[in-house]
Amino acid sequence: MAIKKPAAKTPAAPKAQTHALPSYLDHQHLGPWGVYLQQVDRVTPYLGHLARWVETLKRPKRALIVDVPIEMDNGTIAHFEGYRVQHNVSRGPGKGGVRFHQDVTLSEVMALAAWMSVKNAAVNVPYGGAKGGIRVDPRNLSQGELERMTRRYTSEIGIIIGPNKDIPAPDVNTNEKVMAWMMDTYSMNTGATATGVVTGKPIDMGGSLGRREATGRGVFTVAVEAAGQIGLGIEGARVAVQGFGNVGGIAGKLFAEAGSLVVAVEDHTGGICNDKGLNVPKLLEHVAKTGGVAGFKGGEALPLGELWGYKCDILIPAALEGQLTKANAGKVKAKMVIEGANGPTTPEADDILGDKGILVVPDVIANAGGVTVSYFEWVQDFSSFFWSEDEINQRLVKIMKDAFATVWQTAQQHKVSLRTATFIVACTRILHARELRGLYP
Ligand SMILES: NC(=O)c1ccc[n+]([C@@H]2O[C@H](COP(=O)([O-])OP(=O)(O)OC[C@H]3O[C@@H](n4cnc5c(N)ncnc54)[C@H](O)[C@@H]3O)[C@@H](O)[C@H]2O)c1
Repeated sequence: MAIKKPAAKTPAAPKAQTHALPSYLDHQHLGPWGVYLQQVDRVTPYLGHLARWVETLKRPKRALIVDVPIEMDNGTIAHFEGYRVQHNVSRGPGKGGVRFHQDVTLSEVMALAAWMSVKNAAVNVPYGGAKGGIRVDPRNLSQGELERMTRRYTSEIGIIIGPNKDIPAPDVNTNEKVMAWMMDTYSMNTGATATGVVTGKPIDMGGSLGRREATGRGVFTVAVEAAGQIGLGIEGARVAVQGFGNVGGIAGKLFAEAGSLVVAVEDHTGGICNDKGLNVPKLLEHVAKTGGVAGFKGGEALPLGELWGYKCDILIPAALEGQLTKANAGKVKAKMVIEGANGPTTPEADDILGDKGILVVPDVIANAGGVTVSYFEWVQDFSSFFWSEDEINQRLVKIMKDAFATVWQTAQQHKVSLRTATFIVACTRILHARELRGLYP
């Protein structure tokens, strides 16, 4: 049985004192932060006496904007805009990735930081939420330029990050190599090797086994749990994926290994489909070699945008936010949408999918596998004792299954969507910690 959008009648929330939107955002175009605020409004009636504290979720604790100047290979000086936002640290240090993308904005980084607060609380790891980014298309940089930009950015945000303060990790267009530079730069600046300052590092310098695959594995794990709830078998299920990078590529591989048919994939280079199932290992090789799925010989080209209406059982947006909108949500034929990306579905699209009886497993639970193994990495770095990959995967799967079960039960209890249920679980934990700590001074 698919869970529908929240019932029209929701309990009245105790009044919280509301404040104006921050002056540093464009109120007419709130972007992803506006989406996040709507999600908080939907959960507020379910927070009981904790709703008194809800305003704390509607503003980031700290937002740092930095100028990142570097010398380019041709001798010119380029300046890039960088951000690090700490949304909430009531439950522990900030935690969240760093994104290098030409469209990064403050609104986006704020929303991504807030979703990290919710996600970390949803899987109950002892972190707050943070996120960072640089407004740059890294494909236009040489390796030297990329390294100089990463190191200068790390130095600039060095005043607010640290193993006990805020721990960055990879996100779109950042990887283990970028994390190694960040760790080295922070360590150089502080005078001591600090492996715990970032996660998603190479294995040889304090990284964790299983981290690279963790988000995709988490996506797969919750998809299996959700499929079980609606009576959908994974073997033979038809899967469509947008984004075939770290998250979408690994999730696609695990589905294929479990006997599902990955029938359609789209990335920034184009789309590809095959009703009999794409050969996922070969497609991953092709992507590694060429940088994208376009031109893959084992399927037909899929025109841009057609992925959403493609006949499938499981649809996995695993690229960027704002992809499923009121313009395309009506076309979706899948039985479930599993959000690998952060914020891929707008609230309007959420309602359309709910009305169609399509189960949406939200980002804040579905892609939490990455931060869960990042937490393991951080713990291993502090204790300088490293676990086996089997141990890591077993602990990851247990945390994801337990978190999904709690969210599912909350959704049933309140008759709300899984997104609102995840927000109920997470925001209750965050605001309870807030209340216990009290206001300083
Ligand atoms: N990597 C992680 O551990 C992790 C954890 C949680 C959430 N996420 C989220 O998952 C999403 C993907 O992250 P990733 O780490 O796989 O990044 P990645 O850089 O490895 O891959 C991104 C993928 O998205 C595709 N893409 C980019 N723009 C696109 C567009 N306009 N249309 C279609 N496809 C497009 C790219 O071609 C690529 O296949 C992001 O929303 C990220 O925030 C990542």
